[in-house]
Amino acid sequence: MMPALSAEEEAHSRAVTALIGERVRAAGGWISFEQFMELALYAPGLGYYSAGSVKLGPGGDFVTAPEISDLFSRCVARQCAQVLRDGGEILELGAGTGRMAAAILPSLAAAGRLPARYAILEVSADLAERQRERLGKLPREIRERVVWLDRLPERAIDGVILANEVLDALPCRKFMLQGGAVRELGVAIESGATGASPAPATSMASPADALQDDIVIVEREHAPNTELANACAALMQELPAPLPEEYTSEICLRLAPWIAGVGTCLGRGLMLLFDYGLPRAHYYHPQRTAGTLRCHFKQRVHDDPYINIGVQDITAWVDFTRVAEAAVACGLDVAGFCTQAAFLLATGVEQLLGESSDPVEHARLAGEARRLLLPGEMGEAFKVMALTKELDGALQGFALQDLRHSL
Ligand SMILES: C[S@@+](CC[C@H](N)C(=O)[O-])C[C@H]1O[C@@H](n2cnc3c(N)ncnc32)[C@H](O)[C@@H]1O
Repeated sequence: MMPALSAEEEAHSRAVTALIGERVRAAGGWISFEQFMELALYAPGLGYYSAGSVKLGPGGDFVTAPEISDLFSRCVARQCAQVLRDGGEILELGAGTGRMAAAILPSLAAAGRLPARYAILEVSADLAERQRERLGKLPREIRERVVWLDRLPERAIDGVILANEVLDALPCRKFMLQGGAVRELGVAIESGATGASPAPATSMASPADALQDDIVIVEREHAPNTELANACAALMQELPAPLPEEYTSEICLRLAPWIAGVGTCLGRGLMLLFDYGLPRAHYYHPQRTAGTLRCHFKQRVHDDPYINIGVQDITAWVDFTRVAEAAVACGLDVAGFCTQAAFLLATGVEQLLGESSDPVEHARLAGEARRLLLPGEMGEAFKVMALTKELDGALQGFALQDLRHSL
């Protein structure tokens, strides 16, 4: 059962819903799902990532690999160490609570490979504050290297760019197939508590069950704009099998500009992207008829983005073929693609486990490793992609598995 919202969460969610309602009215009655997701997650001061809820970790809405175990970050550190040269840098995008940075930096220090600078670009002011607090406790020699950026660096870096579970948080478009044509899904508002009964929904509409004062956010379809129509037409042409009527899915049109923007920051080195996702043919499989959208609220996963608006995370799986295409288009090489389990095993997670001699600590770490590695947990659903520039030689993390043929 879905946990109830506290009074504070209810009030916050009403405020976010009211803002979305205003934007819908201003736009003439409908906004795209991408605009809805942008507001629900990032509206200044109100969106899920902009306001002060706990979000990550056991007391929050979801846990990520670095929050589960430092074993993950220590393996990432090993991959960084292979690539970092003297004077090299690390840039982390969307650093969450700062836990990955807090584990990577001491590992690199122990290996004598500390970067000259560890820069963090974080869109959430609230999370950036938590990062500052956590990383401020590191030894001075390490913490002095950490800086926060408010935009991508103008000078290309030599080193490593890291992003764990950031691509899935980029607002995406939502579409469905109807009568052989693409329709875009977005949101409209209807009168709730004080109004008449909601108007009949479209066949795919999913009326929100949360009444927000007198506003109810409902899903409505619309003709796609040219950008979405072209992207969907290109997508359908590439797929090995036709998609059935009423098929609904997501497409992230922000991915390519994001990769291009971040890619230009890499002068020489490696971009390492971790996320749950699939190659295109699997992502848009004819049997995956309801898309990949997932919402996270107090450790519950569900697929209704129109409840708990502003107090739950909304994500969509990553089409890694789109990431690879965007990377190649901006001059990056796709140097590796594998599962998280294969990456962690190749970077020596078993050896790290073996280093612990205390039986209690060993049992705890073994439990954490299982969550990171097992196929039913994060091991298979999460993928790792390596994008490189001016970098020769095989990467340690991709020595055990090469899934690039599936892209
Ligand atoms: C699901 S959390 C993952 C946090 C952290 N990387 C981890 O693994 O624990 C998504 C993170 O990406 C950040 N984010 C979202 N969009 C971003 C963007 N365009 N650029 C940089 N960070 C972004 C969020 O604020 C948040 O820190």
